[in-house]
Amino acid sequence: MNTAILYHSIHHENTRKIARALSGPLGADLYDIAIDTPGDLEHYDLVGFGSGIYFLRHSALLVRLAEHLKPTYGKKAFIFSTRGWGPPFLYHTLLRRILKTRGFSIAGEYSCRGFDTYGLLKVVRGINKGRPNEKDLERAALFALSLAGQTGQRASQRGITPVSR
Ligand SMILES: Cc1cc2nc3c(=O)[nH]c(=O)nc-3n(C[C@H](O)[C@H](O)[C@H](O)COP(=O)(O)O)c2cc1C
Repeated sequence: MNTAILYHSIHHENTRKIARALSGPLGADLYDIAIDTPGDLEHYDLVGFGSGIYFLRHSALLVRLAEHLKPTYGKKAFIFSTRGWGPPFLYHTLLRRILKTRGFSIAGEYSCRGFDTYGLLKVVRGINKGRPNEKDLERAALFALSLAGQTGQRASQRGITPVSR
């Protein structure tokens, strides 16, 4: 299965760490969209889209990129993020909706906490220090394996949920 992962990581490179953890098990081509985007997603069967959460949604650059994708049929996508706090399911709503309108079916979603020093949080030297941590990266890798269909059953037997708290 040909897989691409497109990510945007602005604040502390938190999402870059998750993108890397996801790419290994999937053998995915990794694109930091601030630097590089694949000209064409034609030859990919599965495409991952992720960023930090900024003002309740994925990065504006990632959202714009998704909006301008050529309509597709039968391709799968997955969504991921790192966030300071709050509900990932809601934070993913906009990107999920756009990807569906571009013809993707959503194979899964992953989110975990990330170090956050935005705004007043600087005063307390940030929240979620050290996140994503080893456990977050391990969960991301298991999520990727389940997407690849290699260990889906084993992951769910061990009670691992795609979204980590
Ligand atoms: C401008 C800005 C806005 C943010 N808004 C939110 C938000 O609405 N909800 C949230 O949970 N985290 C928010 N965060 C925290 C980031 O989502 C979190 O630190 C994330 O891990 C950053 O990922 P990155 O290092 O890959 O950019 C915000 C951070 C910044 C810098």
